[in-house]
Amino acid sequence: MGTLPDAWLGSVSIEGPAAAALAWDDSLTWIERLVSPKEQGRLLQDVQGPLKRRRYQASHWDGVIDQYREIGLALPRWSAESRGIIERKVIPRLPGVDRALLDPHVLDLNEDGAIYPHVDNVAFSGEFVAGLSLLSTAVMRLTPSDGTRDGTICIKLIPGSLYVLRGELRYAWKHEILSSAESVFMGETVTRQRRVSLLFRDANEADAPF
Ligand code: OGA
Ligand code: MN
Repeated sequence: MGTLPDAWLGSVSIEGPAAAALAWDDSLTWIERLVSPKEQGRLLQDVQGPLKRRRYQASHWDGVIDQYREIGLALPRWSAESRGIIERKVIPRLPGVDRALLDPHVLDLNEDGAIYPHVDNVAFSGEFVAGLSLLSTAVMRLTPSDGTRDGTICIKLIPGSLYVLRGELRYAWKHEILSSAESVFMGETVTRQRRVSLLFRDANEADAPF
């Protein structure tokens, strides 16, 4: 059990005993301002072209994401400048596991899109999931996946911020990105427009190079 760092109080809200008991040091990395507006623009420029070739899709068969399009973009396919931002600013903030990183996953959520509560598939990726937010602020809500525990964590994800979920938050809590209509943080409406996130994950044990 740990205390929520004071510096997070304006962007991370907690409610209920399960949230109060969370070991923050082992579960969440939160950097509200990691990437400058100029760097955000550079990263966006790299992903806009490949994204535009796809259409927004309605909810998957498993119904987890609605009104989104996505691509995987291996590091060598980014501009040297973007690769530099990812390598200098993002990768050093990821937990030091000895497994390979998966290709960055780019998720474009349209203004009317949402990601419903889920735990990232444990067969597809490893110990953490990290997200760098671009374009629009959004609210991420986390709740224990075991319905008997009571707790809610909300994070106001501003453009240029990075979160890393690991430990209990990666495996035992669900996360979601609220729809525009639901986007409220500490009583304040958050205007949610089209949002792009860059997701970084480590490979699952089964895929690790030996
Ligand atoms: C996901 C997910 C969160 C985000 O793609 O599994 O939860 O920040 N994305 O876009
Ligand atoms: Mn997820």
